[in-house]
Amino acid sequence: MTTLENKRVVIAGATSGIGRALVDLLAAENADVTAIGRDPKKLAALRQELPAVKAMSLDARHHEDVAAFFGKEKDIDHLVLALSGGKGAGEFRTLALTGLREAFDEKFWPQLDVLQTALPCMRPGGSITLITAISATAGLPGTSGLAAMNGALEIMVPILARELAPLRVNAVSPGVIDTPWWDQFTPDAKAGAFASYSQQILVRRVGRPEEVAATVRFILETEYINATIIGCHGGIK
Ligand SMILES: NC(=O)c1ccc[n+]([C@@H]2O[C@H](COP(=O)([O-])OP(=O)(O)OC[C@H]3O[C@@H](n4cnc5c(N)ncnc54)[C@H](OP(=O)(O)O)[C@@H]3O)[C@@H](O)[C@H]2O)c1
Repeated sequence: MTTLENKRVVIAGATSGIGRALVDLLAAENADVTAIGRDPKKLAALRQELPAVKAMSLDARHHEDVAAFFGKEKDIDHLVLALSGGKGAGEFRTLALTGLREAFDEKFWPQLDVLQTALPCMRPGGSITLITAISATAGLPGTSGLAAMNGALEIMVPILARELAPLRVNAVSPGVIDTPWWDQFTPDAKAGAFASYSQQILVRRVGRPEEVAATVRFILETEYINATIIGCHGGIK
């Protein structure tokens, strides 16, 4: 195990939900955290609550901005890719394929662009962790588009680990987690989805962002975890 104190950690998608929970966890351990997001209010709140964290405004969909940001970075120990948009869910019969394209534009392409662009800044022996989703493998109705997008990321993980060694490359694959991602739905729809999913989850509840953050932290500190995808989903059936 390695301590995370003073380790340089860049988290893309860090102002909300899972990424923000990871910022809180690592900042408490005195890691050197850079948190990337877009919303000025969330960035301002982060700066106020955790002044030691570098809160950076960056839209990861724009390659020029990503390149400019990493052009000034170096010696990153750990990169975590936690960003996504909210599109791509729904029964395939009526799934808007334009929405699925947007979902790829909001998660698949930005995660890969950040990952590729950051490579020259990574310390050998560091790690890259993607946040994917259990939809990639769970076979849940209504998630074929999300499965395609997250599965496309997950299938790359062992290959990237081999190509990029001694960097470690892993993914954490969350189940249903109570984060602001779900605020795109009405309160009733969100409550209904959580109740329904809770029946399919062996621990009978949806997850907390802190639980996924703890899973990511375990990967960062454990040098022997590599080329793998770790679920954090309560045993979804
Ligand atoms: N919540 C779940 O049930 C669940 C389940 C499975 C997988 N996941 C995955 O877990 C990851 C985190 O999700 P979450 O639930 O924590 O979502 P969230 O609360 O909506 O947080 C998403 C974060 O990503 C940032 N972000 C989005 N697009 C960005 C962009 N183009 N450039 C920079 N930052 C961007 C957002 O910042 P701004 O708001 O400032 O733009 C925010 O900080 C995602 O990959 C998601 O697909 C979530």
